[in-house]
Amino acid sequence: MDIKISASILSADFGGLEGELRRAGEAGCDMIHFDVMDGHFVPNISYGVPVLKSIRRCSGLPFDVHLMITDPLAYVGPFADAGADHITFHREIASDPREVISKIRSRGLTAGISVKPATPVESVFELLDDLDMVLVMTVEPGFGGQGFIYETLDKIRALRREINRRGLNTDIEVDGGIASGTCRDVVEAGANVLVSGSFLFKAPDMAAAAAELRGI
Ligand code: DX5
Ligand code: ZN
Repeated sequence: MDIKISASILSADFGGLEGELRRAGEAGCDMIHFDVMDGHFVPNISYGVPVLKSIRRCSGLPFDVHLMITDPLAYVGPFADAGADHITFHREIASDPREVISKIRSRGLTAGISVKPATPVESVFELLDDLDMVLVMTVEPGFGGQGFIYETLDKIRALRREINRRGLNTDIEVDGGIASGTCRDVVEAGANVLVSGSFLFKAPDMAAAAAELRGI
């Protein structure tokens, strides 16, 4: 399977984001993963619309926006205006996921939904036909640099089985603790889009780290 790497700039040097985005592009990453946290859905605050808008011009790569926020419906429009190419929101939010998906699509963006480690992946099966991507969190969302939760591998396998059974080509993205070793486990389980923050941005050679994630 073709593996895509989405570089999470949560672990980048915010003092020099333009250079960090260039580095990710030169290292052969396929997407920029942009983690939005509201201090409510997750116990951390990261960055939002104005930052995306400023850095959009610094990279030609697609922006893969991961909304860890309580009210994604209200922010799809502003993130689309700021230059998002893809938006993933969480299954655990209160609002109707179908409404959020149609809002994302109405802006011409691709749509994804994410499940935290404790949320059964079967909870997104009824939405699969409408999704471009499912993001299986492999750590608790909120912080970079955490250890991979191995119990999530079974969820990736179950999701891959269901996608294949239905003949869909939905992407399976994984996020959290993706590094040497765990990259092989998630790909074997069926993931094809790997988010990586600390492993890539803290690596002495980002291109070598990206190649390692890709399994080459
Ligand atoms: C965590 C974020 C991740 C984070 C991953 O809530 O969604 O995208 O940046 O960081 P690493 O790769 O360091 O685990
Ligand atoms: Zn993320």
